[in-house]
Amino acid sequence: MSIFHPTGNWYRPPTGSERLWVGLALAWCLVMSITMPWWHFQGKQNAPQTTYEVEPAAFIERVNQFVQSNRVGEMNGVPIVEAEPGGDAYLLGQMWQWYPILKLKKDQTYRIHVSSADLNHGLSILPINMNIHVLPGYDYVMEITPTTAGEFTLICNEFCGIGHHRMTGKIIVEE
Ligand code: CUA
Repeated sequence: MSIFHPTGNWYRPPTGSERLWVGLALAWCLVMSITMPWWHFQGKQNAPQTTYEVEPAAFIERVNQFVQSNRVGEMNGVPIVEAEPGGDAYLLGQMWQWYPILKLKKDQTYRIHVSSADLNHGLSILPINMNIHVLPGYDYVMEITPTTAGEFTLICNEFCGIGHHRMTGKIIVEE
């Protein structure tokens, strides 16, 4: 309840520059609203949506099997594992390490299964800035075709405890 009633019909449609700005804002809202779904389907930035439920212990077992049968070396105590082109590779996030080091070939496609042994981690692949949530209980499948050779650093960008800042890893892509 107000002290004074507005007199008569107080509404005046926008005119002049007010009309222009309202129009611009509305046009931009429409552009953004259309761009979001369009870019979702057209952009190359979208990760695939394949996820399976998995018990952490079962996933660790698969990682260990993968490491055992494809191990080609070691770096700072972490096994380097060469994945079969066109095949499956496994990457485990755990306090506080990405395990193992993956070795891939340029222009070959891989299904990289990512999961966590303990709690939430954030897989961040640098310098391409690809970010994926890694949750225990879920096997997330990244279908990846590396287009550049080189070494890619993995860090964790989801706070996961005292060793979070030390949680690193590596993907090596060969020509
Ligand atoms: Cu793992 Cu932060």
